[in-house]
Amino acid sequence: MIKSVYIHIPFCKNICSYCDFCKQFFDDKKVDKYLSELSKEVELKYKNEIIDTLYIGGGTPSSLNMLQLEDLFKIIKKIKLNKNYEFTFECNIEDITIEKAKFLYNNGVNRISLGVQTFKPKYIKLLNRKHTKKEVFDNIKILKEVGFTNINVDLMYALPNETLKELDEDIDILLQLKVNHISTYSLILEDNTIFKIKGFSSVSEELDAKMYELICKKLTNEGYIHYEISNFAKKNCESRHNLTYWNNNRYYGFGLGASGYIDNIRYTNTRSLNEYLKGNYVYEKEMLTNNEILENEFILGFRKIAGISKQSFKIKYKTDIKNIELINKLLEKNYLQENEAYIFINPKYIYVSNTILEEFIGGVYE
Ligand SMILES: C[S@@+](CC[C@H](N)C(=O)[O-])C[C@H]1O[C@@H](n2cnc3c(N)ncnc32)[C@H](O)[C@@H]1O
Ligand code: SF4
Repeated sequence: MIKSVYIHIPFCKNICSYCDFCKQFFDDKKVDKYLSELSKEVELKYKNEIIDTLYIGGGTPSSLNMLQLEDLFKIIKKIKLNKNYEFTFECNIEDITIEKAKFLYNNGVNRISLGVQTFKPKYIKLLNRKHTKKEVFDNIKILKEVGFTNINVDLMYALPNETLKELDEDIDILLQLKVNHISTYSLILEDNTIFKIKGFSSVSEELDAKMYELICKKLTNEGYIHYEISNFAKKNCESRHNLTYWNNNRYYGFGLGASGYIDNIRYTNTRSLNEYLKGNYVYEKEMLTNNEILENEFILGFRKIAGISKQSFKIKYKTDIKNIELINKLLEKNYLQENEAYIFINPKYIYVSNTILEEFIGGVYE
């Protein structure tokens, strides 16, 4: 049963030095054509399910002008939302105006995700972002005044030459914003980015580990719950949409470069705007075997700090999670631990959780 929808808006007013997401320069005419094709894709694929979580991401959805936002919301209105829905809209700080914030609020958006990344002018410049620290404070104030209570901020760390002290200062500023969700990202040097082309390097692994530890310590001290490797939320403010992914549940992905998971098929849409505008939406799709579905269940599920619920697993797969040999092996090695209800990664190993998750790749689970 599908209960989540992701919609991708691939346009940005400027391109950040680290970004390998599916995006391109904002162009009014292309946006208009894109929205009319997006409308067709949604109409063709969406089967009128009642949706719990809707996420408009990018690119930069907030780069759209008011008329384009109105067109986008005509498409969104085709999607039937549950009474208790979560509707997230990604914004870049510099796009936020009272008019846009009110429009989003009045059209049902109840969660805003903001790419802030850093507050330090030298890193803002290095990342080629366009906001200032003052704008972050002013525009989050606008969002709160308009009525938004559910706000996420993305913070990046391990930036080229960044020190622990600089990160510490960034976290202190971030905490002053009093938002209820924080996503943290250690810089990944992706191919085809300015950073990679210019030969920048990230910080040492040792410093990266210290930075992660600092983030975990400072955020949990302030009452944020560390609920996923990179994500922190105040009580009951976890991202329900992202939990769809980590719970290995089905979802629609609409738009350029979007991924989806329908029935047992995982698919990724084309990143070519030309192909997309011709109606050739899907670039690749793969029908998963039961074994691959289980593999994903573990790789995604153990990202959650609470781990995988034994009971949910039994209901979903009609077998006990403890029947899986690899689970027992990792429990024996103390990489995984358990309580009555859950199996989870040993908190001691969260920083190296990727190594543990890799153990599940290519395993035999049936
Ligand atoms: C889907 S992107 C958000 C796009 C949105 N336009 C923005 O810039 O806020 C989600 C987050 O991923 C993080 N991110 C993107 N590229 C990254 C990279 N190369 N390394 C680490 N984090 C990255 C950034 O924090 C970004 O806000
Ligand atoms: S990080 Fe966000 S704003 Fe920057 S180029 Fe990527 S998608 Fe666009």
